[in-house]
Parts: sequence; C-alpha cells; structure tokens
Amino acid sequence: MMHETLTILGIESSCDDTAAAVLRMGATGAEILSSVVLGQGALHAAYGGVVPEIAARAHAEKVDVAVRAALVQAGVALAQVDAVAVTAGPGLIGGVLAGVMCAKGIAAGAGLPLIGVNHLAGHALTPRLTDRVGWPYLMLLVSGGHCQFLTVAGPDSFTRLGGTIDDAPGEAFDKVARLLGLPQPGGPEVERAAEGGDPARFRLPRPLLDRAGCDLSFSGLKTAVLRARDALIAEKGGITRQDRADLCAGFQAAVRDVLAEKTRRALAQTGAPVLAVAGGVAANGAIRAALNEVAEAHGARFVAPPLALCTDNAAMIAHAGGALFRLGRRDDMTLAARARWPLDTASPAMLGHGKRGAKA
Ligand code: KG4
Ligand code: ZN
Repeated sequence: MMHETLTILGIESSCDDTAAAVLRMGATGAEILSSVVLGQGALHAAYGGVVPEIAARAHAEKVDVAVRAALVQAGVALAQVDAVAVTAGPGLIGGVLAGVMCAKGIAAGAGLPLIGVNHLAGHALTPRLTDRVGWPYLMLLVSGGHCQFLTVAGPDSFTRLGGTIDDAPGEAFDKVARLLGLPQPGGPEVERAAEGGDPARFRLPRPLLDRAGCDLSFSGLKTAVLRARDALIAEKGGITRQDRADLCAGFQAAVRDVLAEKTRRALAQTGAPVLAVAGGVAANGAIRAALNEVAEAHGARFVAPPLALCTDNAAMIAHAGGALFRLGRRDDMTLAARARWPLDTASPAMLGHGKRGAKA
C-alpha cells in the first residue's frame, strides 16, 4: 500500500509526564523528529504518589511549552504539520483535559485535523514504530498504571486476554519499596536490593496461578511481603540488610513467575508470532529474561522497545494518531477527555485499576 508522508504532532498528558512529539510517517516506517517529555516527579515527590490536582495544574502550565519545544527541536513549523494527535484518555481527567484543550486550540487555530488517541493504544502500537512488527502480535503492558495482555490486529483492533484485577505490578514494586524503606520509584531499587538476596527464603504466594486464563493480581503479594516484614520486626525488633535483600528477591521472583506463566498461557491461547512488552516494569532484568525465555519456547519473536518509548511519551501518541488518520479517523471540537476508556470494548470491565489513575 502506498502512503503519502505525514507529519504528526502528538500531545500526551494523562499521568505525570507532559509530553509533545513530532513524527514523520512515510510509506515504510516512521521517524521521530522530536520527543519532549517534561516529568513532574519533583512536584509529587513529597506526597509518595501522583497528586491529580498538582498534575493537572502542571500539565496546563507546561503543555504549550512542550509543544513549542517539540516543534523547534524537530525544525518543523505548524504549517508543515498534517494533523494533531492527542491523548483523550484514559487517565487523570484534569491532565487529559489540559492536553485535549491545547490540541483543540492548535487544530482550530492552524486549521488542522484533530485525532483523539487512546493512551493504551499508544503503548500497544509502539512495537510497530520501533520494530516494525506485523499484525497480529501479543502485547504485555506492565507499568505503574497498566497491566494487561492484548492481541493487536490493527490500529483500532485490540482484544484483551486478561489483566490485573487489583494493582499494577509497578505499583506493587513501589509499595514493597516503601514497606522496606527504599526510595521511589521502587522498581529499580527493589531490583538492585534483590541482587544479593535469596528468593527462596520467604514463601511468597503466586496469586491467581490456580485460576484459568490470563488475569493477574498483585495486591495479595504485597500484603504477604508486609506480613513477612512485620513477623521479622516482631521477632527481632527490625530487619537487616540481608532480610531486605531476601524479601526483595522473593517478591521479584513471585512477580516474574506470575507474569511468565500468564504470558505462556496467552501465547498458547493465541499462537501469536511476536511477544511485545512495554511499560517501566519491562525494564526489570529478571522479568525481561523470563519473558524472553517464554517467547523463545513458543518460537515467538520477543520485542522490547527502548525504555524511553516504553514509558509515557508523545511519539507513541503521534504514531497511533497517524495510523488512525490513515484509516480516515477525524475528531472535531466535541472530542471529550475520558477518565476511563477501555481498548477492547467487547471485554467485561475490570474490577480494579492502578492507583495512579483509572487506566481502564
Ligand atoms: O511505564 P512507567 O514509566 O509509568 C507508568 O506507570 O505509566 O512505569 C513506572 C513503573 C514504576 O512503578 C516503577 O517502579 C516501575 O515501573 N519500574 C520497575 C523497574 N523500573 C521501573 N519495576 C521493576 N523493575 C524495574 N527495574
Ligand atoms: Zn502509560
């Protein structure tokens, strides 16, 4: 199929990163001309999590700064842009609104088409941007706010095979770090602490392995770590560095085992030729190695985009928006910001969602 070259401006503001990017999509692939991510970590640090009101205000203040920087870095004038793609959900509503309002202003002012993009579709389509994988493929999204398996068969064709019924795994890593006095974000800290630990010392559960299918749960695992810590404190008045290493190693091994087994099932169920992962938790060496091994055993190709494109960014939104644009999708000034927006509307709603915002 021949395609004209498109230049897309992407905007993302659904959680705690204000991002803008310019993407050029040609016939055979896309090139990221710029990708600006203004993190809000420092603003939320004192609160131990993302505060929605603070996030919304910071997005409203910074989104036009991010857009201007993305255009300047790309060396592209607004007149050269073909369409504006913006995250319209799911996420923290105040932040999503700030991005949607900005995109509407630019689209109306410059007379450009507007495309509302599902944030999860942005993540889920990233392996096509980075590795040009063909349809269909199996996608595992694992971050602080997301955890689900999807079969991706087109820019607007997602089948959800399963997901977490409570916490996202990154959220569990962050909570375990907090329980053990390690700084945030907890994932990398727990991984480092686990290096010198014995994963077999504490008998931690492997939640939902006894239940058929691909749903996951991480809340009970976090509670088990809390109990084990409290038992140590009750016994000897505190925990040693070795205790902490053993708890981290045990917790990480449990998350790894659960993700590996559910991925095995998802691959067996779908026979997908590619397993792709995205999200901060995919940065974990032990988890990554286990998923790679599972893919290999099924004869599937393992694709893990570079971390900067695995975590929240606007290049993925521009890319998903461009793919939808080619399908003929256009939104207008009635485009609404949505706190919840499941990718697969045919699947039943999940019971829980990440505490960082309703991620459907
Ligand atoms: O995708 P991401 O940057 O942001 C969203 O959640 O949207 O993911 C961040 C999450 C945090 O919970 C962080 O602790 C976790 O990913 N994470 C990790 C590692 N690096 C980041 N978890 C486990 N091991 C890691 N090495
Ligand atoms: Zn995300």
